[in-house]
Amino acid sequence: MKTYLIEIKLNGEWQKAEVTAKETLLEVLRNKLGATEVKNGCGKGDCGSCAVIFNGKAVNSCLTLALQANGKEVTTLKGIGTEDRPHPLQKSFVQHGAIQCGFCTAGMIVSAKALLDRNSKPSRDVIREAISGNLCRCTGYKKIINAIQGGALESKL
Ligand code: FES
Ligand code: FES
Repeated sequence: MKTYLIEIKLNGEWQKAEVTAKETLLEVLRNKLGATEVKNGCGKGDCGSCAVIFNGKAVNSCLTLALQANGKEVTTLKGIGTEDRPHPLQKSFVQHGAIQCGFCTAGMIVSAKALLDRNSKPSRDVIREAISGNLCRCTGYKKIINAIQGGALESKL
């Protein structure tokens, strides 16, 4: 099968990968670029666990072709914060008990970060809208919304 060499600025560093026209950004991030922090929940656009920031917007990487990301910037959870240097949003999720099984959390934080990048003081309704594509089966969303509001406050310190 024909392959193409693409280059993606992943979490601030340019990385190359050989991809086919059919491969998704999710597959390439996880299987070729080692970005396993991007989670594969449903693989068909229903859960939001594979969200990444792509050109300043949260998108489902399972619905994005890797070829579309050629020459573009992609930020994953690790580009937002790490275990050693967590982002205020990540700390806020822990402080507010917004994580239970954790399955949704990577995508949830990516969607929240993309929101806070364009709106540093979102209302609860705006937060609800921003995470409407991110399914959580555990928390009931209230704690997640509290955590995102808390993270927004902390980010300004
Ligand atoms: S894995 Fe992409 S939306 Fe579920
Ligand atoms: S914490 Fe379990 S799905 Fe969200």
